[in-house]
Amino acid sequence: MKCRTCGQKAVVNMRQHKLALCKEHYLEWIPEQTERFIGKYHMFSKDEKILVAVSGGKDSLSLWDILNRLGYQADGLYIGLGIDESIDYSKESHRFTIKFADEHQLKLHSVDVEKEYGHSIPVLAELSHRGKGRPCAVCGLTKRHVMNRIARDLGYDVLATGHNLDDEAATLFGNTLIWSGESLVRQSPVLPESDGLARKVKPLCRFYEKEMTAYALLRGIEYIYEECPFSIGSTSIYYKQLLNQLENERPGAKLIFYLKFLEARKQGLFNISEMDKSPLLTKCSSCGQPTSAEGECSFCRMMAKVKIPNQPNDDQ
Ligand code: AMP
Ligand code: FES
Ligand code: ZN
Ligand code: ZN
Repeated sequence: MKCRTCGQKAVVNMRQHKLALCKEHYLEWIPEQTERFIGKYHMFSKDEKILVAVSGGKDSLSLWDILNRLGYQADGLYIGLGIDESIDYSKESHRFTIKFADEHQLKLHSVDVEKEYGHSIPVLAELSHRGKGRPCAVCGLTKRHVMNRIARDLGYDVLATGHNLDDEAATLFGNTLIWSGESLVRQSPVLPESDGLARKVKPLCRFYEKEMTAYALLRGIEYIYEECPFSIGSTSIYYKQLLNQLENERPGAKLIFYLKFLEARKQGLFNISEMDKSPLLTKCSSCGQPTSAEGECSFCRMMAKVKIPNQPNDDQ
């Protein structure tokens, strides 16, 4: 197999794109494509300040690397979840994130959930009795709250996450199975800013997970291989496996599923004004973030339940 650009031996063969590339040209192709997606979906410009949520995994560290290589102003945000029971998942992922930031001389904000809010994610989940034995719902709620707080308080224009095509296709599949109109309307490469909520973007949403693995490995990015121990057996992993079976027999099927969804939505398959009956947002009486609930937002209500006042320390 030869590189389409230079004819040298290819190291990556992407059946889904009918494209094989050598290391040098693959490492050029990924940022070029990312730049194209950033432009196509109007994500952000070179003079905006970007906050990249970095988990220490291959996707978000690669995203940070790519944005940096493309000349964007991108700082990192790591959220320490305190998931260190079976394996040192949070400690290790923090270590990889710090190492990357140091090596590339990038600015990293670190928020430790236990230090700032009194309990780690597993303990918060237990005390608040949310999430049917899994801390993932509490984790998601807390991560969204912290990401939005840091983006808002430190004046970032946009918040970028490392969601890849496999993540987006699995979410889309799950939402389609139950025809969740509200979630389908909101699933987008860009969620515009609204009162008190930062703009959210997913610049890697069109890259296959294996394309990001290849990028991280070929760039020599060190990242945490382990998944969060609580994700084992989750529905999203099951959907990813199903979609991979489909993809194996029909290369490109996963990408088409996602892209055709975006296209259909743009063409009005979902009547946005009808579906997007987003409730009016008001200010949470405790933390000030927007909420559809009356009084306190879900995060503050959870914190009230575990009786730790939501008063974060200053972020360094
Ligand atoms: P996940 O929900 O674990 O698939 O992660 C999706 C994206 O959320 C990642 O690509 C990161 O951008 C962000 N993210 C997940 N965990 C963290 C974390 N602990 N700290 C900061 N960002 C995170
Ligand atoms: Fe949040 Fe696993 S529970 S990453
Ligand atoms: Zn080449
Ligand atoms: Zn609140």
